[in-house]
Amino acid sequence: MTEAPRPAYSAAAERNRGPILEQLLRLLPASGSALEIAAGTGQHAAHFAAALPGWTWQPTDADANALTSIEAWCRGLPNVRPARQLDVLAPSWADIPTGLDLIYASNLLHIAPWAVCTALMKHASQHLRATGLLVTYGAVLIDGVPTAASNLAFDADLRARNPAWGLRRLADIETQAQEAGLVLRETIALPANNHLLVWALA
Ligand SMILES: C[S@@+](CC[C@H](N)C(=O)[O-])C[C@H]1O[C@@H](n2cnc3c(N)ncnc32)[C@H](O)[C@@H]1O
Repeated sequence: MTEAPRPAYSAAAERNRGPILEQLLRLLPASGSALEIAAGTGQHAAHFAAALPGWTWQPTDADANALTSIEAWCRGLPNVRPARQLDVLAPSWADIPTGLDLIYASNLLHIAPWAVCTALMKHASQHLRATGLLVTYGAVLIDGVPTAASNLAFDADLRARNPAWGLRRLADIETQAQEAGLVLRETIALPANNHLLVWALA
């Protein structure tokens, strides 16, 4: 008998899932529908869906290869929909439901071209219900706040790997959001110089 392949594992996701969940539990109502963008290994989807049993969680990723790992992490969770492929840059999200209560994207904006930020804001504003939230997580550059040495090194590493990648200025993300009709409602500092950003319809 051949064994099922092991799901992918991210040590960072294992460390940050607790602090992120603490904020989601504070921000979100008891029930709703969530779309996760760039779900990666699936560790966040599994952890958050288990702690939010009133929520339906739809994990997605642009990389079809990620879907197997997401499925493995989420196996047995009745409130997680089958993982599906979604590229934020797809011209239309026609097959993604509207009226969502949460769109969640962790560690995406700096590991993707800038166009992904523009597209995420545009589609989020079209697919969230009036009271819905877009929540993004990761390292950002904040004007007037010295950037931690670890984030400067991370930024240099990202840019060396792909010149289109790199840490984003919060002010630039905010401009994209505003153009799409979203406002920054909260900026929450989390461990390891990361921030949770909470966006709502204006
Ligand atoms: C660093 S991983 C983050 C995974 C997970 N969210 C986490 O925080 O551990 C970045 C993920 O973004 C996905 N990704 C990159 N470009 C994307 C795009 N245009 N649309 C959707 N997902 C994308 C990659 O496939 C990858 O799974």
